[in-house]
Amino acid sequence: MNIYFLRIFVLFGLFFSTSAFADVSFDEWLAKQKVFATEKLLANISPRGTARGVVVASPSKKEPDYFFHWVRDAALVMEVVRSHDLTTPETQRRLLEEFVRFSRKNQLSDAPSGLGEPKFHVDGRPYVGPWGRPQNDGPALRALVMSRWAKTLLASGERSYVEDFLYRAEIPAHTLIKADLEYVAHHWRQTSFDLWEEVRGHNFYTLVVQHQSLQEGADLARVMGDEEAAFWYEKQSNLIAKKLTFFWNADKQRIVATIDRDGGANYKNSGLDTSVLLAFLHTRSSHGSQSVMSLNDPKLVSTLRQIRQSFEAIYSVNKNHKDMAPAIGRYPEDIYYRGNPWVLTTAAYAEYYYLLASESWSLDEIKANIAKGDAYLKRIRFHTPEDGAWAEQIDRNSGYMLSARDLTWSYASFLTALKAREAIVKRIAGEK
Ligand code: NOJ
Ligand code: NOJ
Repeated sequence: MNIYFLRIFVLFGLFFSTSAFADVSFDEWLAKQKVFATEKLLANISPRGTARGVVVASPSKKEPDYFFHWVRDAALVMEVVRSHDLTTPETQRRLLEEFVRFSRKNQLSDAPSGLGEPKFHVDGRPYVGPWGRPQNDGPALRALVMSRWAKTLLASGERSYVEDFLYRAEIPAHTLIKADLEYVAHHWRQTSFDLWEEVRGHNFYTLVVQHQSLQEGADLARVMGDEEAAFWYEKQSNLIAKKLTFFWNADKQRIVATIDRDGGANYKNSGLDTSVLLAFLHTRSSHGSQSVMSLNDPKLVSTLRQIRQSFEAIYSVNKNHKDMAPAIGRYPEDIYYRGNPWVLTTAAYAEYYYLLASESWSLDEIKANIAKGDAYLKRIRFHTPEDGAWAEQIDRNSGYMLSARDLTWSYASFLTALKAREAIVKRIAGEK
């Protein structure tokens, strides 16, 4: 055998020894990663050297430095803490209360863009260096998770905690949710930076989470005897719903991520962006409120197909393994770390199909959708190192984990996808 072949052989061996395929079935792998993701997510909440209530985006302190509390990431992670059984009920309660205290301090800090400030130091001071600010999805996401928690507390007779810390009917607001809702209701017309912190404009993702926060916030306001505020929040959310219709590009048959751009990155010409899917996933409600889109909305379906196709065409990891579902990135023009697939956006596609499965009628259709979702988690598995750890991104060429290690949001996105999977798998098992 010549040396060239030998090299290929060795490389091949190396590759397979680092991937996590060693004899474990997919179900076993899911179970193992669930435990691992839970541990890793919890480890990023108030880690050593940070204030209680902090959620660090990642433990990585350089290249990149993600050792900060991002309002968006933190809210999304706390939504997982709130709605999953990651810990004992006592610990869950403590984590939520600490988050409330820390977040209220953030609100009261003298931040450059007030409640739209995206990022805080781990001691609670606002980050004041140059940054894409404001990012107005943050207060909306925080209001959403907190309103849902408030409703649970009210149902178990804890009105005084809610009134003292979460929602009291008064202006100026002195409570966390009330302050966020006032901010959202008064600022949604302003342009702000998108969730990727790059483009200033009216962003679909931001408006969808703002809309949902005002809908669910209005319900809470009413329960808290704040009838007029409820009316005003609802009115604003209906205006947002109208604004959202302008994101549909009929020529291209896609929902675009941004309109009215007035700052930041200007090279995102396609408008395709996985944030459109995240908008949907992050506002799904088990609380009966109306969300702006349904899973089967042809506009969403068409957009998702085009996003998927764009990533199939540009990443080597996808072109080299066409037998698998594609790894999904943020948007095709992405240049951050030269533009790569991300764990959380790939997991989002999995979650989408699991949710679609739960809304399907025939058993065949359900199974087909579960299989589609599984294909995306199998894609993530293919790029998962032996130790199970997920960073932010997957190198588009080598397939190895890239950028911020142990990104909290990566673990959160897997856990929400898996929960959707468990729900539908359990249901069809029960029906048999
Ligand atoms: C850091 C942001 O978090 C990321 O989303 C962005 O792509 C880069 N900065 C480049 O602006
Ligand atoms: C960059 C991402 O683009 C942004 O959405 C996120 O908030 C930060 N990283 C922190 O994880």
